[in-house]
Amino acid sequence: FVLEMCFTITALLCYPVCLQGNPNASPFPSNFLFGTASSSYQFEGAFLSDGKGLNNWDVFTHKPGNIMDGSNGDTTVDHYHLYQEDLDLMQDIGVNSYRFSISWARILPKGRFGSVNKAGIHHYNKLINSLLLKGIQPFVSLTHYDIPQELENRYGAWLSSQVQEDFKYHADICFKYFGDRVKYWTTFNEPNVAVIRGYRSGIYPPSRCSSSFGNCSNGDSEKEPFIAAHNIILSHAAAVDVYRTKYQKQQGGSIGIVMNAIWYEPISNSLKDKQAAERAQAFYMNWFLDPIIMGKYPKEMQEILDSNLPSFSNHDQEKLNSTGLDFIGINHYTSFYTKDCMFSVCEQGPGNTKTEGFALRTATKNGVFIGESTALDWLFVHPQGMEKIITYVKERYNNIPMFITENGFCENDKSDSLTEETVNDVNRVEYISGYMVALGAALRKGADVRGYFLWSLLDNFEWTLGFTIRFGLHHVDFSTLKRTPRGSATWYKQFIANHTAEK
Ligand code: NOJ
Repeated sequence: FVLEMCFTITALLCYPVCLQGNPNASPFPSNFLFGTASSSYQFEGAFLSDGKGLNNWDVFTHKPGNIMDGSNGDTTVDHYHLYQEDLDLMQDIGVNSYRFSISWARILPKGRFGSVNKAGIHHYNKLINSLLLKGIQPFVSLTHYDIPQELENRYGAWLSSQVQEDFKYHADICFKYFGDRVKYWTTFNEPNVAVIRGYRSGIYPPSRCSSSFGNCSNGDSEKEPFIAAHNIILSHAAAVDVYRTKYQKQQGGSIGIVMNAIWYEPISNSLKDKQAAERAQAFYMNWFLDPIIMGKYPKEMQEILDSNLPSFSNHDQEKLNSTGLDFIGINHYTSFYTKDCMFSVCEQGPGNTKTEGFALRTATKNGVFIGESTALDWLFVHPQGMEKIITYVKERYNNIPMFITENGFCENDKSDSLTEETVNDVNRVEYISGYMVALGAALRKGADVRGYFLWSLLDNFEWTLGFTIRFGLHHVDFSTLKRTPRGSATWYKQFIANHTAEK
């Protein structure tokens, strides 16, 4: 008996210490957020219900030729009406958080030029309350690409500094009505993608570009993306300012921004290629994060763009310095080999222009991409990129708290029929589990990542690709709206259970 007691006492004393060094112990802290992510335009449908105003995506998708399969988000997965059912699916998986966005035009159909739509407020109140009843934390974006069309019509939205006032107004309304219960806010989702596609290639609204960059000639691809980005950065600062001065102390939440973050791997060990990868990052993610966190644009952008890069006034500078952010949201899916095009001649391709930093992306090594190709031309499976991008952000921004706000895998599947293959989505499971291992490795090395959101709970409307590709843990039959869990839903459920078990 004495011997047995000795063992028990030793085991108890050793437990916390041994656990730390135990490579099998979960690297996920006990308060880690596990969730799924969505966005208003891709999920809600109900495009003109209950007083919602038209937004830029409503207008864009209704123009023939803009969406690959001619579809739109008028109904999509009808999450507006079916959210209770979707919350049940989340509860079954066992997530403790849900990332969604507020449709700006549902709250303010005409921006600040009209009144607040009470039915819109009511809808999000119901959603937030139902989530909290299930123990699921809302993680909310103030906008996810969709903005009231009114702002485009009145003053050209992001191209005008007037938009800062509108965004600030929208943010204020959201904090006021929902901030007592929402503890995680993000201002923008992937503004880098929105401006590049909206003002350089013109494939997203407001479809502006110069002919040398895309299929339009109504814009200036060399200047407008930087003007739009500038107004987005200052709009972020304006919203954070409202939060800090009017709400944060009393409501006790935090606020950040979500960036699309690609890992750019230098194609060789040469200094030139390493600098090219750094330039690619400067012209993509750091473009927004540097001004918000460090008060100035990356030096690579300043050097190359010169007067095409807008500058911050003293007043702007003060706002940036006093606001910042509380955490960085990282949407990470893919990695690219990157090759120098400033000092070497390279083939034409994405990245190889002045406005992108002369850094060719998606280069191949002996004809091979950095990872396995998928249904999307930008999605290469390279799990190590997850650890590398987290480490990069950690080092550049002083281990500021981070959330992986999106990560996920899609397959080409235009038909609604359920096959063995669509339900047993082994490729998705392989992708997610690989990326989770890499996330775990980053956590073990001390990265302050506080949550992970899978894109996505359901198949949904994938922007210009419409319903041709599927990202869901659940299959959706778009004609009946029936949701069916895939193998990946079961896998995620098990993963969460394993990593949230009593520690
Ligand atoms: C990031 C975007 O935020 C989301 O809207 C999109 O569906 C996914 N990437 C997949 O492309």
